[in-house]
Amino acid sequence: MAIKIGVLGGDGIGPEVCREGLKVLDALCELRGFDVERIEWPYGADYCVQTGGPGKGIVLPDSIWSEIRELDAIFLGAIGDPRFEAGFLEFGIVGALRFKLDLYVNLRPIKLYSEDLCPLKGKKITDLDMLVIRENTEDAYAGIMGHLKKNTPDEVAIQEMIYTRKGCERVIRYAYQKCMERKKTFKLSLVDKANAIRAHDLWRRTFAEVGKEFPQVTQDAMYVDACTMWMVKNPESFDTVVTTNLFGDIITDLGAMLQGGLGIAAGGNIHPGRVSMFEPIHGSAPKYKGQNKANPLAAINAMGMLLDHVGRHEEAALVEKAVGGLLASHRIPSLQAGAMPCDRIGDLVCNEVRVLAGDKPRKPKPPSGSKKKRKMTVARR
Ligand code: IPM
Ligand code: MN
Repeated sequence: MAIKIGVLGGDGIGPEVCREGLKVLDALCELRGFDVERIEWPYGADYCVQTGGPGKGIVLPDSIWSEIRELDAIFLGAIGDPRFEAGFLEFGIVGALRFKLDLYVNLRPIKLYSEDLCPLKGKKITDLDMLVIRENTEDAYAGIMGHLKKNTPDEVAIQEMIYTRKGCERVIRYAYQKCMERKKTFKLSLVDKANAIRAHDLWRRTFAEVGKEFPQVTQDAMYVDACTMWMVKNPESFDTVVTTNLFGDIITDLGAMLQGGLGIAAGGNIHPGRVSMFEPIHGSAPKYKGQNKANPLAAINAMGMLLDHVGRHEEAALVEKAVGGLLASHRIPSLQAGAMPCDRIGDLVCNEVRVLAGDKPRKPKPPSGSKKKRKMTVARR
């Protein structure tokens, strides 16, 4: 049975980095003999502008939700555009997918593949290998907010940090399970701010209670301010981390910098057993749009995570090994935008995957979409 994916390239550099992720997927399909059917969606800033602009135009049409029901996973590039108010498209697309599909886990691995990519002094690749599990449906992101007396000197603005017992419990249980699966040091760190945000007491209690189901796992709770300090000072002390939505957002950007930059960090928005969404954690970087300068490794890694989610574990491992090998051997010497063309990096990963899978390296393939093998490519306009 073919794997069915929805592709939403989105804004800025999103479409071009997605293209490279799909190129790697095509290479794997060919090498490993499986099929992928994909729907490509045009949504994002341009589509919204073309259909009427902010307030009137279409952000996501209702039809997308029935299309998604038929899929195994979604591959997303990037969302965000300076023509729109900050957060409008982000919440309308990324937020809508996370909330409506109840993707309660945001899985963000932080791993160093080459010592010279790390801005910290004297850290080896084995010193940075942590897995952050960010809660993805609650907290300040739940959208319980408002303004009073907007645009007056007396304006009041609020945004509530919401946590439910069920919401904490399910993501914490998932994190314990992941920590067990990793078989690293069997330590799970809870990152919160229970000393100032007293509501985080719910996280502390739930962490301790769910932890009883996992007696092999050492429980470690820390405040987020301390966490940022330890991530810089002793990243080797981390194994698996579980945290709130907002803190997870922040510490994973820090983590991305430790592994070399946003050009490599990927994330999975997951509801175990259901349609889930995979994306690079970087933004749309409008200034690099269409210049073939963006580094697509984060999108390629997101594709690897997608493959893992749909049960293609060996192919997922191949992607990681290829990316890791290219970085460790300096064949991709830098993660900076512009250091190497976007499509060239995609080609290198495809070739590396072929070599690792025992096939010979070859010249770059014609652009994706031109092959007979794929059963269905529906582009919606
Ligand atoms: C992320 C992004 C989003 C977030 C933005 C685009 C709303 O920064 O996925 O990390 O804050 O979750
Ligand atoms: Mn972020």
